[in-house]
Amino acid sequence: MAHSILITGGAGFIGSHVVRRFLDAFPDAHIVNLDALTYAGNLENLRDIEDNPRYTFVKGDITDAELVDRLFGEHGFDGVVHLAAESHVDRSIADPLAFVHTNVIGTVVLLHAAKKHWGEQTDGKRFYHVSTDEVYGTLGAEGLFTEDTPYDPRSPYSASKASSDHFVRAWYHTYGLPVVLSNCSNNYGSFQFPEKLLPLAIRNIRDGKPIPIYGDGKYTRDWLWVVDHARAIEVVYRDGVLGETYNIGGFNEWQNIDLIHLLCKVMDRKLNRPEGESAKLITFVKDRPGHDKRYAIDAGKIADKLGWKPSVTFEQGLEKTVDWYLANETWLEHVTSGAYKQYYEKQYADR
Ligand code: NAD
Ligand code: TYD
Repeated sequence: MAHSILITGGAGFIGSHVVRRFLDAFPDAHIVNLDALTYAGNLENLRDIEDNPRYTFVKGDITDAELVDRLFGEHGFDGVVHLAAESHVDRSIADPLAFVHTNVIGTVVLLHAAKKHWGEQTDGKRFYHVSTDEVYGTLGAEGLFTEDTPYDPRSPYSASKASSDHFVRAWYHTYGLPVVLSNCSNNYGSFQFPEKLLPLAIRNIRDGKPIPIYGDGKYTRDWLWVVDHARAIEVVYRDGVLGETYNIGGFNEWQNIDLIHLLCKVMDRKLNRPEGESAKLITFVKDRPGHDKRYAIDAGKIADKLGWKPSVTFEQGLEKTVDWYLANETWLEHVTSGAYKQYYEKQYADR
């Protein structure tokens, strides 16, 4: 029988890469993408695959229990890859309830439907919850997050994702739902909404606008190319052990200010500007409240157990990413027209 997979949030940044990857990797599978098309969801991210006969898009909300129940009934999903979420820390500080609603309630609605439809027949079934390293809190100068690091979320975003992770594990232990989880570091690459650091900086550098750096810029993140994350999700979906969690990371830590200096150098070269020109746009602004100092992932388990490793260096991934944004100006214009302007003004006005 054909494999039927529900991907939630497939019109977003990572989700669109996952839809593309899964269509390629599972040639017998039908993929249903359930996405509410919030400000972050965009069907332009999926233009190249939208006519694939093995792909169906459903515009809808994961918190709509009736809809989710109906989709399980109609499509007989045997897999769920759950990515739909409110995903931006700054927005979670401004509007935490939206994060609880989608990230917590939405996840529970999906778990509930999977349990109802799968019952005891869980052979070949899989509920994959995609999460973030931010659930582990913040690190000092040393150490890495492992799968055993205690949860210590500190922003409304990370608290909502941590809560959803706990619900997923509760459904595994209580009802035997066949779950698998992964917690990944910061992604970068094509189709990322320009509220996040890298696409926002690329756009501002291109336009000669200030690059806002929060605080002293000495905050550290681990960066992974989104295509490598989508590949890791495929590997965990196929071979991950039920009930287990896999940390995914790029073995690639950068302080924000160093990362932006590297980006400025690449942009100077791409835009034929004298070296040092773009870096003049760097502007230190008021810090994010509760800003986590450092995230760093030990991705040893997925490497050792499932044989996954990043396929590109950061320099290669960054080069591809800059090329993509410079070649896709129309995409960038579309996502930054209208509501983005209001968001940007509000977010950066008093910094
Ligand atoms: P994104 O904000 O780009 O996309 C989220 C998608 O979910 C959008 O298409 C949006 O329309 C959809 N969505 C939001 N609320 C919905 C709802 N109530 N019902 C249905 N659809 C809804 O996010 P992203 O960066 O692609 O992240 C995807 C997932 O990966 C999230 O769960 C996030 O927590 C996790 N993650 C992201 C990163 C990262 O660096 N971006 C890192 C680790 C984990
Ligand atoms: P972001 O891309 O929002 O991801 P996250 O908060 O999930 O790590 O931010 C990455 C880092 O960049 C984080 O330390 C906050 C910082 N940052 C800035 O300095 N300026 C900005 O305008 C933004 C959006 C982020």
